[in-house]
Amino acid sequence: MKYKFFLLCIFLLSATLVSAQSVSGRQVSNFDKSWLFHLGDLAGAQIAGFNDAGWRKLDLPHDWSIEGKFNKDNPAKPEGGALPGGIGWYRKVFTVPAANKSKLTYIEFDGVYQKSDVWVNGHHLGFRPNGYISFRYELTPYLKYGGQNNTIAVKVDNSSQPNSRWYSGSGIYRHVRLVAVNKIAVDQWGTFVTTSNVSQASADISVQTAIRNKGGKKGEYKIVTGLYDMAGKAVGGQVTAKLFVNDTLTTAIQKLTLQRPRLWSADAPALYQVISRVMAGNETVDTYKTTVGIRDFYFDTDKGFILNGEKVKIKGVCLHHDLGCLGAAMNVHALARQLKMLKEMGCNAIRTSHNPPSPELLDLADSMGFIVMDEAFDCWEKAKEKYDYHLFFKQWHKRDLEDQVLRDRNHPSVMIWSIGNEIPEQSDSSGFRIAKDLAGIVHRLDSTRPVTAANNHPDTKNQIIRSGAIDLVGYNYHHTDLVGFHERYPDKKFIGTETTSALETRGVYDMPSDSIRRWSDEDKQPMNADFTVSAYDNASTPWGSTHEETWKIIKKYDFLSGMFIWTGLDYLGEPTPYTWPARSSYFGIIDLAGFPKDVYYMYQSEWTSKPVLHLLPHWNWEPGKTVDVWAYYNNADEVELYLNGKSLGVKKKQGDDLHVMWRVKYAPGTLKAVPRKHGAEVLSAEVKTAGKPALIQLSADKDKLKAGDADLAFITAKVLDKDGNLVPFAKNKIMFRVNGDAFIAGVDNGDPTSHEPFKANYRYAFNGLALAVIQAKQKSGTVVVSAEADGLPAAQLKLSVVK
Ligand code: GAL
Repeated sequence: MKYKFFLLCIFLLSATLVSAQSVSGRQVSNFDKSWLFHLGDLAGAQIAGFNDAGWRKLDLPHDWSIEGKFNKDNPAKPEGGALPGGIGWYRKVFTVPAANKSKLTYIEFDGVYQKSDVWVNGHHLGFRPNGYISFRYELTPYLKYGGQNNTIAVKVDNSSQPNSRWYSGSGIYRHVRLVAVNKIAVDQWGTFVTTSNVSQASADISVQTAIRNKGGKKGEYKIVTGLYDMAGKAVGGQVTAKLFVNDTLTTAIQKLTLQRPRLWSADAPALYQVISRVMAGNETVDTYKTTVGIRDFYFDTDKGFILNGEKVKIKGVCLHHDLGCLGAAMNVHALARQLKMLKEMGCNAIRTSHNPPSPELLDLADSMGFIVMDEAFDCWEKAKEKYDYHLFFKQWHKRDLEDQVLRDRNHPSVMIWSIGNEIPEQSDSSGFRIAKDLAGIVHRLDSTRPVTAANNHPDTKNQIIRSGAIDLVGYNYHHTDLVGFHERYPDKKFIGTETTSALETRGVYDMPSDSIRRWSDEDKQPMNADFTVSAYDNASTPWGSTHEETWKIIKKYDFLSGMFIWTGLDYLGEPTPYTWPARSSYFGIIDLAGFPKDVYYMYQSEWTSKPVLHLLPHWNWEPGKTVDVWAYYNNADEVELYLNGKSLGVKKKQGDDLHVMWRVKYAPGTLKAVPRKHGAEVLSAEVKTAGKPALIQLSADKDKLKAGDADLAFITAKVLDKDGNLVPFAKNKIMFRVNGDAFIAGVDNGDPTSHEPFKANYRYAFNGLALAVIQAKQKSGTVVVSAEADGLPAAQLKLSVVK
């Protein structure tokens, strides 16, 4: 099958991006501000007049777990991040203008973890167990208008644990908004845009629009649909369809053609917007915007993945949804920082393991250029954890999966649907039945993208693969079997749904670097006594591989369309191998604080064309010790290494090598690497033996923040010696202070074993680095961040906050 597309994304107005919008007929307002929160269950808290005096005032998104204390006995266990769960209540009082009496009002939640019940003015609106799904309720019949108060109450129940194999967070951790529309309006997630005949010359665009009539006047209406660039300039003409709107759903299909479209790709993610106006005579009763991207792609048995006519290797990473020290609480700026780092590494794809992502992730993937595998479930009917989604699967899977596809099917970035990860039913006949059911649900709503499942039993007895329901065979791990994929599955298309699971602690180096430690091998446990794991890319899980092992295979064969590495960033929970006091993972290419581990530069040297040279390890060792020195590089023929000016030899990558190595007898001083191309020096890198900590250096990922937008600056504190060298083992306690209208939203250092709180104004440096996340408030002006550590002079950094 060839998957031709173009896509649109329903522009779910992100509350952080747009605080309130009113286009003709439709009002969308941010509903994140000024909620009251109580941790613990309370009888009667859904009642409008309930006494909530004394509850804590906060703005959403909010994750109460991240505010708690680590304890291995917390019911989530270290696998779930060892932070508390429980039950929490949220309440908010609001008014609705009298002018809105004739409108329909909805409350939209992007995600609540988990088992939420929502009431308005004491009326129960619904229960939603799935913690990752977006949902809405209609408030209209229960609202009071004018100056009268309305009360929303939300109960969130994350008390039955373990219910997740990773850190979930707890609470209303994604955005909430109010949407008011006329009685005749575009339905929720009511457009679906597809393309055909896509070429550089032109693209045919089909826009399907579902109009819902809830109490409006039946009769003849018009839908006027046009295509615009992102600046609002008309580009593809306008079409008008007349239709008779009955008292339920009426669907129109309209066709547009765009000449010389700018095609969407990961390198050049061109976007457009479809604007649909529903009109009664000359009156606009609704206006609906859908962000779209035009591209053509398909998977091929032999050639792999083809995007806009070109072979593209999918160079992806799996991501869980937490934002490190901010927990699960959605902040688009924190997510954008993660994606920017991945983009700079050359990554072009993301798998939303193992659940529907936030809308912001897809918006960013659309605009930054990431191919997305949008995943639905980590389990079906059979449990992985005692209280996980298997308890709800039978009753809820259809609704949840349909809602996910309807919400996400217009995003140009989404190119693969995954109906499940490592589902136990692979080895059971129910796998056959359920795979058909789920793939059928997806195909019915979207036939333009392939469906896969992430299989960890890729043998021919696998019931999910045998069912024939999936379009792409997804392999998790088994890197040495990949070459034989065609023999097992002639005529099937491949995607590496999950690979690698290598383990690393930033800044830790165990020698010899060329001996791979797999945790099944008793003599070579990857975990050291201090719960660190070597960052030489020489440690992995028994089911996984080092980074180099898998990438060497994937890059070699075209039929291997690509891979999703476990994982792009470290995440809370799953401290594999399961060793308390560790409470977060070691899998990331980037650590939990957002500091790259060395292997980041291996990928960058392979995946980008920018010149890369990265030298490791640090240069503080016992004199006389044999130290393995590695260099990752590209765009050069060879690299020469010098120690204190004396050459230690020239090395070239041989065969499929991804780095070069020298075995060096350590002497303090300066290690310098010089790559050459056609004999000319192209770059150089130095690592110097560091002395004692002497100063703190602060740097920020950006120096200008937007006021009133929950904007963040990520401040790195480096502990340096008097000559400005990073002190590789420094663990000074760094105190952060903020002056100005901003606050510390979180601190971290990337150490998976630290039990220090994330919500604090201090952090011990870990291998020389610490992080403070500064959040701007409402006012513009200057914010001064300072950092102090015992005996070291204070460092300062200025940020400007602008309207
Ligand atoms: C996989 C699983 C992931 C994660 C990973 C750790 O088998 O799909 O969720 O647990 O192992 O290596």
